[in-house]
Order: sequence, then structure tokens, then C-alpha cells
Amino acid sequence: MTSDTLHRPLRDLRISVTDRCNFRCTYCMPEEIFSRDYQFLGRELLLTFEEIERLVRLSLSLGVRKVRLTGGEPLLRRDLEQLVASVKAVGDLELTMTTNGALLARKAQVLKQAGLDRISVSLDSLDDTVFRAMNDVDFPVAKVLEGINVAHEVGLGPVKVNAVVKRGVNEHTVVEMARYFKDTGHIIRFIEFMDVGSSNGWRLDDVVPAADIVTMIDAEMALEPLDPNYPGEVARRYRYQDGGGEIGIIASVTQPFCGDCTRARVSADGALYTCLFASRGFDLRTLLRSGATDQEIVETLAAIWGARDDRYSEIRSSETAGLPKVEMSYIGG
Ligand code: GTP
Ligand code: 5AD
Ligand code: SF4
Ligand code: SF4
Repeated sequence: MTSDTLHRPLRDLRISVTDRCNFRCTYCMPEEIFSRDYQFLGRELLLTFEEIERLVRLSLSLGVRKVRLTGGEPLLRRDLEQLVASVKAVGDLELTMTTNGALLARKAQVLKQAGLDRISVSLDSLDDTVFRAMNDVDFPVAKVLEGINVAHEVGLGPVKVNAVVKRGVNEHTVVEMARYFKDTGHIIRFIEFMDVGSSNGWRLDDVVPAADIVTMIDAEMALEPLDPNYPGEVARRYRYQDGGGEIGIIASVTQPFCGDCTRARVSADGALYTCLFASRGFDLRTLLRSGATDQEIVETLAAIWGARDDRYSEIRSSETAGLPKVEMSYIGG
């Protein structure tokens, strides 16, 4: 097993399969920057399915047990179910995906058949006007809800629904969302707006602290804290006292969780990032295409992880705020 300088093992690999997205969420891919003539990665710069499968296979020998496919929007990558099938066949791992849900109603069945274990769907509000403004492509909320239901029906549940909360934007729709997903078996998780990337104009004032979110929901539907499912779980769990299920809060800003962070990220163009907030990644694509042996690649991965000392959220300050950071749409959150 490989551990970093802070004794954190490598357990999760999150792989972005495309930098493209059909949404322009204002906090992730603001339209002013990701405009019509924005240059996305060319096909030859993306890792191939074979390269991704090889990376997963080799990282398993270093201790990885959870693999998450992300984007941009992963369902925009053609034939993604083929990648799902080949990655799942690699060995003993849990395979999940984070999607915006736009294409999910159509794809859920084939993804399940290919071997996907679970799915997380990003959805910031149930208020159609608020949601259309936040995705900034006028995408209707009803289609995402349909995707969530189909995913649940085909057995990709419990579906985790991720809502980024932004002050003054969707804050007022939080309780309504919690109520909607209560008693459904889906797990809604509220995420503090984070300072990922350099283009989303993040300000601390825009963050609604996790504690305030819990207080708002608890005032209407009584909550109690739950223990984590496993050490290092990103979301803090709460359950409804009346047995209506659970919710989660991801408080990366006000309650950082770097101490248990076991996640490595691979960008769509094959760079390895040891932190969501890293300014640089390690170019695995060149290594993969250089004729390197399996052993050489494993040794490189182990060396990168062994040298890791990231804990950005814990040391976030005026000094770190100005540093260049990788964009979220590049490494998928
Ligand atoms: P499961 O518990 O297995 O569902 O995994 P998860 O909680 O990692 O799920 P998911 O990938 O959906 O993560 C939810 C969100 O939490 C992400 O989209 C990010 O916004 C945030 N997040 C996840 N991992 C990290 C991390 O390492 N650091 C920070 N700061 N935020 C993270
Ligand atoms: N802060 C918090 N969460 C974010 N996401 C994207 N950008 C941010 C941000 N700045 C979330 C998305 C999705 C996941 C991939 O990351 O909403 O749920
Ligand atoms: Fe696309 Fe997800 Fe970013 Fe929204 S948060 S623009 S859906 S990648
Ligand atoms: Fe992990 Fe970096 Fe997030 Fe901390 S800030 S939890 S080290 S990804």
C-alpha cells in the first residue's frame, strides 16, 4: 500500500473523460470564458479507453478501490459504456460516475448493464427558473429529475444528488430540495461553493456555511447526525428523525477534510493531480505513450503519491487564494 507524506493511502481515482460540458454552470464554466470559440481538447489529447483501463489496472496494485468517472460531462464521451465495462472488469473496485443528468434518462440502463455501480447527479435547484439560470443553457429541471428516477429504477441507486449552494442564488431553495428528496431513497448532499479554478469569481461571502444549511433544514424537518460510512467520507451525514432517509453536507470551506483525503485525480488529457486545488499535474499521457512498462508506471505513480503533501482546504488563506489552480471542468470535482 502506498501512503503520502501525511500517511494518507491512495484509495480513490477520479478520472475526467472529457473537458466538454453541455451546461455552463456559472460557478464552474462561466459562459464569458467557456464561450463558443473556447478551444476544448482535441481528440488526440484525451486519454483513450485503453489508456484509462491500463491506468486503473495499475493503480489497483497501489491500493485504489474506488473509481469515479467525471468530466466536464462524462456522458458526452462517445461509447462511454464500453469504458465502464472495461474498467469494471479490471478487478475488485467500486465504479461510480458524476453527471449533470441531462442525458441520464437515455443512458442509465446501458450504464447499469455495463457494470456501473452507482451514480451521483449534480442538481442545484428544483426551482426551474433558478436551475435554468445556474446551468446557463436554459436546461429544464424536469429532464434531470427524470434521469434521476430512471437511474433509480434501473438499480444505480441510491442516487446521490449534489447541490452546490451559492449565497443569494439558490440558498432560498435548499429546504424545498431537501423536502422533495426526503422519503425517496435518494440522498441529497449540499456542497459549499468552493474556490476551485481561477475563473468562477469565488468570494467567501458567497459561501453558505454548512452549519447554516443544517439549521435551515432541521428547523423544518428534525435531523440528527450519523457516523461516516467509512473513514474519510467527504460528506457529513444526517438522518431525518422520522425515518425519512438521510442527507449529506460537503463543507470543504468551513470544515475541511484534507486529513483523510485519499483521492487522486486524472484530467481529461491525462495529467495526475494530487489535489482538487493543485496548480500543476503530472503528465501521465506522455508516459503512457512512451512505451513505459507497467512496472515503470506503477513506480512513477507510487513516487508521485509518496511525495504528496497537499492539504489546500486546511490552509486556504489570502496567500493561497491568488495561486493558479486547475479548472473544475478539467478534473471533474
Ligand atoms: P461517495 O461518497 O462514494 O458518493 O463519493 P463522494 O462523496 O466523493 O462523491 P462525489 O464525487 O459526488 O463528491 C461530491 C462533491 O464533493 C464533489 O463534486 C466535489 O465538489 C466535492 N469533493 C469531492 N472530493 C473532494 C475533495 O477531495 N476535496 C474537496 N475540497 N472537495 C471534494
Ligand atoms: N464549488 C463546489 N462544487 C462545485 N462543483 C463544480 N464547481 C464547484 C464549485 N466551485 C460541483 C458540481 C458537481 C461536482 C462535479 O462538483 O456541482 O456536483
Ligand atoms: Fe458542467 Fe458539471 Fe461544470 Fe456544471 S458543474 S458546467 S454540469 S462540469
Ligand atoms: Fe484533498 Fe485537496 Fe480537497 Fe484537501 S483540498 S480534501 S487535499 S483534494
